[in-house]
Amino acid sequence: MCEIKTIGVLTSGGDAPGMNAAIRAVVRAGIYYGYKVMGVRKGFNGLINGDISEMTARSVSDIINRGGTILQTARCLEFETEEGQKKGAAMAKVFGIDALVVIGGDGSYKGARALSKQGVKVIGLPGTIDNDIGCTDYTIGYDTAMNTVLDALDKIRDTASSHERCSVIEVMGRHAGFIALNVGIAGGAEAVVLPEKQFDLSKDIIKPIIEGRNRGKKHYVVILAEGIGGAIEIAKEIEERTDIESRATILGHIQRGGSPSVRDRVMASRMGAKAIDTLRNGRFNRIISLKDNALIDIDIDEALNMTKTLDEETVELCKILSL
Ligand code: F6P
Repeated sequence: MCEIKTIGVLTSGGDAPGMNAAIRAVVRAGIYYGYKVMGVRKGFNGLINGDISEMTARSVSDIINRGGTILQTARCLEFETEEGQKKGAAMAKVFGIDALVVIGGDGSYKGARALSKQGVKVIGLPGTIDNDIGCTDYTIGYDTAMNTVLDALDKIRDTASSHERCSVIEVMGRHAGFIALNVGIAGGAEAVVLPEKQFDLSKDIIKPIIEGRNRGKKHYVVILAEGIGGAIEIAKEIEERTDIESRATILGHIQRGGSPSVRDRVMASRMGAKAIDTLRNGRFNRIISLKDNALIDIDIDEALNMTKTLDEETVELCKILSL
């Protein structure tokens, strides 16, 4: 049996749609099972500064449908230092927090792991639109972000088609091409440029566009992951080398906001409740993960050593279907 009485919850790193649903699930499942739940605002910054207060079932009313995070978030540099971590652990003690649920990505888990070494029990929940957490097949926010990008792509396609243009669309994912690849397939892009893959402008973009034109295509969509960058320059070069009018759109932070999709709300709710369940079972310093459609918990050190790669068949499929 474990002696946890009070559980803290915070969101850290880039926000993601569905984080509120996860907070709600942690708070309500926690209260249901008899724990006191404390909300920590602004990520690890709030932990260091004691920006912490008790949450009730009512303090998470009307948030399941909202993007962003009611607890707010931050990328906290101070928490990368041992001094910051010690301050955080000391503040957790002041507020009686025995265990902390950290909703965020790999960077946030590193903070959580450091905190566990200072004696605070931790559970990580995967929250990032990038879907780039090695230990889990799914991250909260990914589905909503993909649907936001797809909606934008469909709209851009309408105007590209009317003008017989090429549109270069830059999507988020500094180091990860999951959004780019899957929206590329869902939106029928002519080319997808991924940070994980070597890229040659002539071979991977110009050639398929010219071949497409020879087969009678009237418009072209190129998806570019943020990690590659240079959408404006690439659009200019396409225009110069193909004589097809080209435009660039950088979608930016609209991809991080908006009301979460059904999938994100349900996954966040299940993962939040699973965090409480894991603590109830005396398991801590674990990351909640979706693997082969089942929710499991993985040791935090193991989780931080895991990597995730793009599915090669899907990369190939994207090329084949752009014919
Ligand atoms: O990790 C999520 C993410 O949106 C990335 O796709 C992007 O590279 C980064 O965060 C942007 O961070 P910021 O909002 O701090 O500029």
